[in-house]
Amino acid sequence: MTVARQSHNTTQGQKVMERKVTKAVFPVAGLGTRFLPATKANPKEMLPIVDKPLIQYAAEEAVKAGINELIFVTSSSKRAIEDHFDKNYELETELAQRGKSKLLSIVQNVVPEHVTCVYVRQPEALGLGHAVLCARPVVGDDPFAVILADDLIECADECCLSQMVAVYREHGCSILGVEEVPRNETDRYGIVDPVSSSGRTSFIRNIVEKPAPEDARSNLAVVGRYILNPRIFAHLQTIPRGAGGEIQLTDAIEELLKEEQVLAYRFEGKRYDCGSKLGYLQATVEYALRHPELRDAFRDYLVAELGMEADKGLLRLSK
Ligand code: UTP
Repeated sequence: MTVARQSHNTTQGQKVMERKVTKAVFPVAGLGTRFLPATKANPKEMLPIVDKPLIQYAAEEAVKAGINELIFVTSSSKRAIEDHFDKNYELETELAQRGKSKLLSIVQNVVPEHVTCVYVRQPEALGLGHAVLCARPVVGDDPFAVILADDLIECADECCLSQMVAVYREHGCSILGVEEVPRNETDRYGIVDPVSSSGRTSFIRNIVEKPAPEDARSNLAVVGRYILNPRIFAHLQTIPRGAGGEIQLTDAIEELLKEEQVLAYRFEGKRYDCGSKLGYLQATVEYALRHPELRDAFRDYLVAELGMEADKGLLRLSK
């Protein structure tokens, strides 16, 4: 009896051990029209929040979650991203000669050495689903994460993707990162239809793209973090073009849901929608108020500009 139970536990344990997510796809081939002209020659994902580009925050989150292969789906105008993660001999030599060792270390350690960066081209901006499909030859048959760098997520403890990887280890099925949004904003997101929930995790029946508030089955919106079973590629390959003539990731997830379980996970953390100007500015202000070198001077500046009423709120943010 004891032996049987041990062997069962071992099998379960092995299964859990096998449920590793080591690859993350970063779709960065969108047109970024909401930030034109800033994004005319520069990818949206290279916009900095204080002193670090959005894509680097995203890569750091992936590495923290145990990812060791970063797959960037780029387009012809996104060379800056490849350059950012590549070695820059000239700059490094110059910084070394000037004795700027702190800056040199920042430039040299954009990603740790054990991490590999792979670049795949999306020839045309045919939608997020199409961008993910372009990564198929590199992802192969493994489960993988998808991170949309313009959804910047700040977490007090474990980063958003680490939380999701833990849920994946337990359940072994695709996981969608979701957050509660105000009811009157459901028509801006993919909204999940939960069947039952346990803590932060919900079993879902469906996702509905941008439902009107009165039709929405919940206020849980899918945001830019996914862990996907590679089976998703078969659906991305066959689904017709959806909203805006684009191949939509949401449509493929709907198809996946017809054959297997997909979970929604309400992550712990604060999301900034840096794909919109307002969200981008909010992130900039809040990150600046926490930045060790900037926070005091920036807070003083804001208090002087906005008056003492703002003082209390800014104090809270800069802690
Ligand atoms: P968005 O919906 O934010 O589109 O894409 P966008 O083109 O980046 O920005 P706007 O709306 O025109 O301002 C969500 C994510 O999917 C990627 C984008 O780079 C972004 O990370 N994406 C979108 C692609 O990689 N390829 C596409 O064809 C579309």
